[in-house]
Amino acid sequence: LEIGTGSGLLAMMAARLGARQVTTCEAVTAIAATARAIVADNAFTPPVTVISKMSTGLEVGVDMDERADLLVSEILSSEFLGEGVLASIEDAKRRLLKPGARIIPARGSIQFALFGGADIEHNIRVDQVYGFDLSRFNAIVPRKHYISRNDLNIELLSEASSAFSFDFAGTDRFPVSERRTIEVPVRQAGRCCGVIQWIRLEMDDSHVFENHPAIKNPASGWQHCAYVFPATIEVLPGQIALIGAARNRTTPWFFFQGFK
Ligand SMILES: C[S@@+](CC[C@H](N)C(=O)[O-])C[C@H]1O[C@@H](n2cnc3c(N)ncnc32)[C@H](O)[C@@H]1O
Repeated sequence: LEIGTGSGLLAMMAARLGARQVTTCEAVTAIAATARAIVADNAFTPPVTVISKMSTGLEVGVDMDERADLLVSEILSSEFLGEGVLASIEDAKRRLLKPGARIIPARGSIQFALFGGADIEHNIRVDQVYGFDLSRFNAIVPRKHYISRNDLNIELLSEASSAFSFDFAGTDRFPVSERRTIEVPVRQAGRCCGVIQWIRLEMDDSHVFENHPAIKNPASGWQHCAYVFPATIEVLPGQIALIGAARNRTTPWFFFQGFK
């Protein structure tokens, strides 16, 4: 079973790699129709069956002959949770998978670090512009930015920390929300603008994907998310920043709580 057909690529890869039968479902009708045509263009045996439905609408006995023994999905947003991955996987485990079915990715986490640097600060905050003081504008601009430009120089002022992790294989029901304070040691002096966040996926025990900001991945739809603090903070090595991290079912959030 695949949740989220998209182009059909993952489903066809599963078939090519030896899956006996592949059922893939897609919530968006136009995408499902296009994927069905792509799969037909690539003439597969065993057939890849594209179902134009949300996974939560699939029924064993109607859409698939039996419960699946393997689930593959890529329904992760840049902030991990935005496409409703927790609800989709919980539902699939309860109704669509055999007990002990393999789940890929098996685990994943929301990673973050403190960030700063003149280049990025210049792009997300305003202060003096041509001699005019625009700093009040910072109070009303969005606190969350998607960073899609690779040319911006972002300084990581701490090591990576894990905010929340999700064991898809081992958990049947995830908490609706979580909130914690994380101690983050500063490793480099600088002007800290906020927290930069990315995702880490453990496909199985040996294959990991991570769009860490210091790694230039050649092709990835995932962006880095910057959660900007209300004011830039001067940080020094040796300090321990206390970062609040919260999440609901679809969004994480970060805030500065002070120094230890
Ligand atoms: C990133 S794409 C998947 C790409 C795909 N694996 C491929 O090989 O091209 C995610 C897709 O999942 C669909 N989706 C997300 N959650 C879903 C769900 N619970 N049931 C069905 N489709 C879902 C979205 O509409 C989107 O088209």
